[in-house]
Amino acid sequence: MRWMSFLAGASLLSGLVCGCEPEPEIVEASAEEHGKALFSDPTLTETQANAFSCATCHPTSKPSADGPILPGAPLAGVTRRASYWGGMEVELLRSMNHCLYYFMLSSKSWTAEDERGRALFAYLDALPAGPADEEAWPFTVPVQITAPPSGDATAGGSVYARACESCHGAVKTGEGRLVARAPILPDQTLAEHPLGTYTAEQRRLVFVQKTRHGGFLGYGGQMPPFSMEVLSDEQMGDLLAYLGIP
Ligand code: HEC
Ligand code: HEC
Repeated sequence: MRWMSFLAGASLLSGLVCGCEPEPEIVEASAEEHGKALFSDPTLTETQANAFSCATCHPTSKPSADGPILPGAPLAGVTRRASYWGGMEVELLRSMNHCLYYFMLSSKSWTAEDERGRALFAYLDALPAGPADEEAWPFTVPVQITAPPSGDATAGGSVYARACESCHGAVKTGEGRLVARAPILPDQTLAEHPLGTYTAEQRRLVFVQKTRHGGFLGYGGQMPPFSMEVLSDEQMGDLLAYLGIP
């Protein structure tokens, strides 16, 4: 539907400009614009239950030191990388399809002909990028979970705001959360892991494990994993101090 109306818009525009058939260049430039819009569109998978867009998890350019902490790689230069997902994947289309499947609840993979995939490719391919952006992006997920060093609650508040709040909303209330499925932190998670059944140490590790593995490695769900490169162990320790489970 959206693709159709986009095509209609493109030919209408070229009709206004020169009264002729669309030139290949015009279609190409518009595919890029269409891709840009799709990048932050949570409805692109046509899965009602999904509230995430690509932009929920991926910055386009390298993040600043105090900006949002997003779990996905910056995507400028991505079309020229040799491998993806920390070396586990070598195909760009499949790399996107993993996100559609694991995070955006879409059961249908995109083929190389899919208009949405092509438009996103055009957009990502045109993003300004230097040689460093074209290097494979590191993505280290520790399989074995260990307790992080004890941290600083004030620093943890800023980590929470930059990394978790967009989906989970405010601590203790969940105000502003993106999806109702995301529990109110830390209370709902602590309630589901009561003392007695779990030791204090195990309860801490639940937070670390979910943050490091997301929905992978046996945990399930659609939360993305935060790699060691995205979130340091020190920041993890600060986060636990802020959540009151130091
Ligand atoms: C809920 C979070 C989330 C959403 C939504 C998401 N991704 Fe991802 N994506 C990730 C994570 C985590 C990885 C693995 C780490 C990495 O390599 O970026 C990843 C990996 C990728 C990669 C491989 C990047 C690389 O260099 O390794 C591409 C390409 C990609 N995603 C594209 C997309 C596109 C396009 C969309 C939207 C259609 C999307 N993703 C939606 C979290 C997400
Ligand atoms: C892109 C959205 C998103 C982001 C960002 C996110 N989460 Fe989640 N989180 C979820 C969702 C959705 C769930 C519900 C379970 C699932 O679907 O994986 C969840 C569940 C959890 C749980 C519950 C685990 C359990 O078993 O009770 C914890 C703990 C958690 N997240 C911690 C964090 C922390 C800490 C951060 C920040 C570092 C964070 N999350 C960032 C979406 C997100």
